[in-house]
Amino acid sequence: MSEVQIENGGDIDWWSILSDQTFLENPYPELHRLQALGPVHLDRSNGIYFILGHKAFSKAAKSSALGRDTRNWTNGWNTEDYRAHDPVGYRLFSEFQPQMINNDGDIHRRMRKVYEPAFRAQAMTSMVSLIEEEAGALLKAMPDRGEVDFIEAFAGPLPLRVLCKLFDIPESLDETIARWSASLIRIGDILMTPEQKVEAMEALGEFKTFLREQISTRKNRDEDNLMGLAIEAHKDGTLDEEETLTNLVSMLVAGHETTVTLIGNGMLLLMRNPDEMARLRKDPELMRTAIEEFLRVEPGGNMILRIALEDVEVEGTLIPKGSPVIGLIGAINRDPVRFERPDELDIGRPANAQFTFGGGAHFCIGAPLARLEAQIAFSAVLDKYGTIELAGKPEWRLDRMNARGLGHLPLRVERAA
Ligand code: HEM
Repeated sequence: MSEVQIENGGDIDWWSILSDQTFLENPYPELHRLQALGPVHLDRSNGIYFILGHKAFSKAAKSSALGRDTRNWTNGWNTEDYRAHDPVGYRLFSEFQPQMINNDGDIHRRMRKVYEPAFRAQAMTSMVSLIEEEAGALLKAMPDRGEVDFIEAFAGPLPLRVLCKLFDIPESLDETIARWSASLIRIGDILMTPEQKVEAMEALGEFKTFLREQISTRKNRDEDNLMGLAIEAHKDGTLDEEETLTNLVSMLVAGHETTVTLIGNGMLLLMRNPDEMARLRKDPELMRTAIEEFLRVEPGGNMILRIALEDVEVEGTLIPKGSPVIGLIGAINRDPVRFERPDELDIGRPANAQFTFGGGAHFCIGAPLARLEAQIAFSAVLDKYGTIELAGKPEWRLDRMNARGLGHLPLRVERAA
């Protein structure tokens, strides 16, 4: 390996910045400031490398020297020391381990293959009417004119309803699943508080018990849905019981809040950019590129994790084997070196190389579904309402570092003539 620079910006107090309330309200000015200091930084307090540059992350996401199995983190949860100091954390991370996102190589491929058929183009086509029906039902329940909380009335329930349909789980469980999911999504925060770990542990236990019962009562049915794929893989030995349950939990968590965030954040972006809203209404063909631009400008998930499987050089920084690496997507997606006018919403932006769905072997398996859901959701909402305006201050949920989404988005709406 050539001589490389070892680190940049060693004095930055990363975790204070990432959890700061002003940063969580609007992280972009601070991310630009940090990005200007260099594309890769080491947090000396814990050995975590942060990537903020687009070129650096493109390399990291594709590199076979960077994996996603957190057991390879030299000073991470999978050590005797960690286990002695934080038994709840150890239990939580080990019970969350046997799933595709936390494995590399053959094990990862074996698990991912189980679900791949559900996200192919043909499967997506067959989901269109289901998503349209769910979006239509939610819109029907919304007023023709007046004020609505868009998150509560539409963006929040839609992805969960779609997921529950895809897994054939009754709608009456929406709230319970949303609660489990909200506790478990914090695992993506990388550093969790002790209380959050206990809450996530409880949610994981309840979720797995529920899914174990579902599998047991449904194992002799021939189901053409996502639960059917999981049950089949368990029956034929492709996945053991823990792998079956953990992948199911993960799928329901990964596919839920992320998509709520895409629809909610996308609507806020349109509210803040009326010219782009008018452009989209005038030219609905732009819907596909508009969704990519929502994903770029307000990525929802802010941190993408990798672990160095060997010493690796990224844009002049040497990352030693066993180090965790976090891509800060809010910075990467707005890197001025890669994107013209990076902070501006341009719904027709060509060659939009946003990284919100990650990259390489772990690229989000559910991306086609999320994209489709968002396209159908925005088309349906714009179709019903000729007028949509902000009716109050949008409220960001400030209680999580990784997921940047809205808790409330008050809108004033009026049905199209
Ligand atoms: C806007 C919505 C979504 C966003 C922003 C999102 C984002 C992500 C990201 C960043 C990753 C990790 C990629 C990496 O490490 O390189 C990921 C992986 C994953 N996502 Fe999504 N996701 C979304 C929707 C969904 C949906 C709808 C599902 C399923 C129903 C889903 C299931 C998964 C799974 C199972 C993985 C692990 C893939 C693997 O390790 O091979 N996601 N997603």
